[in-house]
Amino acid sequence: MLFNPEFCRNESEVESKLIVQYLLPQLGYTPDTWHQEVAVGSIRLDFLAFAAQVLPFVLDANSPLSVVMEAKHPKQNLNNHVLRLRHYLTSLNVGYGLLTNGREIRIYEKSESDIKLVFQCSGKEVEAKLEEIQDLIGRDSLKQKQLIDKSEIQISQEKQFNLHIQAQGKFSMKTIAIYHNKGGVGKTTVAVNLAAALSKKGRRVLLVDIDSQANTTFATGLIKFQFEEDDDLKDKNIYHLIESGEFNYIPDIVRQSQYFNNPEIDVIPSHITLIEYQEKLNKIASTRRRLVKKLNMVENHYDIVLIDTPPSRDYYAEIALIAADYLIIPSDLKPFANQGLPTVKNFIKDINEYREDIGKMPIKIMGVVASKISTNSKFLQYTFPKQRNVIKERYNLPLMEAVIYDRTVLSECMNQTITVGELEYPDPKSVIKYAEQSKSNAQQSAMEFEILADEVLQKMGIN
Ligand SMILES: Nc1ncnc2c1ncn2[C@@H]1O[C@H](COP(=O)(O)OP(=O)(O)OP(=O)(O)O)[C@@H](O)[C@H]1O
Ligand SMILES: [Mg+2]
Repeated sequence: MLFNPEFCRNESEVESKLIVQYLLPQLGYTPDTWHQEVAVGSIRLDFLAFAAQVLPFVLDANSPLSVVMEAKHPKQNLNNHVLRLRHYLTSLNVGYGLLTNGREIRIYEKSESDIKLVFQCSGKEVEAKLEEIQDLIGRDSLKQKQLIDKSEIQISQEKQFNLHIQAQGKFSMKTIAIYHNKGGVGKTTVAVNLAAALSKKGRRVLLVDIDSQANTTFATGLIKFQFEEDDDLKDKNIYHLIESGEFNYIPDIVRQSQYFNNPEIDVIPSHITLIEYQEKLNKIASTRRRLVKKLNMVENHYDIVLIDTPPSRDYYAEIALIAADYLIIPSDLKPFANQGLPTVKNFIKDINEYREDIGKMPIKIMGVVASKISTNSKFLQYTFPKQRNVIKERYNLPLMEAVIYDRTVLSECMNQTITVGELEYPDPKSVIKYAEQSKSNAQQSAMEFEILADEVLQKMGIN
């Protein structure tokens, strides 16, 4: 059977024509030994093929028997997907990864905590090079490598990765909007690091970015491309979720954060083009409730949803506040931020009126969280207590106990980069992960977010 890369005009043709119809059979994988669109925890693999027939299939820390195959659109540059493949292979302990956009085929081999390129050819050469590919990842040769005996696939329960996201259903999913109409007060910083802290505590977190600045999308490592043509977020972001009632559900849009945190978190990305669509969405009444509806459909998959919002009273902020059960208002407690609080309160009033119309309880204000607070001791002794009182007394809003101090490490960890070949890519980290990498200046800040996470859980009655 011949393979011609010209057959592959999009990602699904790369999947069907190159992988399913050509490579898998040529490599000896029968339909019972490969699986498409496999979810392992929050990782989603295009294809996972096993040398041995394993049903139900499980991956063990000691059984690097399988191959992950990832198909990309022919216009995608494979360089942009190497980091993600490395994450898949190393975190799932899979021996080999094939990465292709139809025009180019690469095979990577896992070694300890990294991967190395062991084979590369163009789509046109695939037939001529088939033997080489078979030697590396053919089912028979993987079996012969005897990396593990079939009997050893009887593995302990603890070591199993469950191949389905399981509903644990201990408590119902809670949604929190992080909002203030004042810009630059730390909404995004709070959203991403609170998400990271909650995830570290074992909660299943979904982070939704509904701000066209896409700062949360960036901060969670999803903007790893350098050129517009490699932008894989443009056609799959929060706009698409809100735009359609019939398609584009959360599992279709969601991404996993990239090298951002341990464990990584699920993210609904945003995009700069959101701004263009606002008017169009605003004209269709049903778009106001789409996020509510689509979140309801994943209520068994997540414990906590955090929504990072734009610094304005716009349609996207409205959508977020309609969807949320709780509201956290980050504020630097300075006069401008304070003077924005009556606007926030009026906005909440309007939102609650709409919520009542659709049979939803009023949004619960969890509180103002003091953020970007100076660590100057005189300030903390004299000014800060007064500022805190103002929130309660003048603005009549609850104040959270946790305080997020002004720490330069918070912008430092968000601005990390990594060099791959000749290109430098953004490689942002949560402050929680940054602290784990023994960056001592991060530990204080990480602890402050962990305290905030505890308070959030306690206020929702789920700690
Ligand atoms: N606690 C903090 N300590 C030090 N720097 C901070 C802190 N919080 C935020 N920053 C910095 O302040 C800037 C604005 O923060 P951030 O983006 O989180 O605010 P925002 O409210 O989300 O802004 P916008 O309204 O534009 O969405 C960023 O450069 C960020 O790194
Ligand atoms: Mg922001």
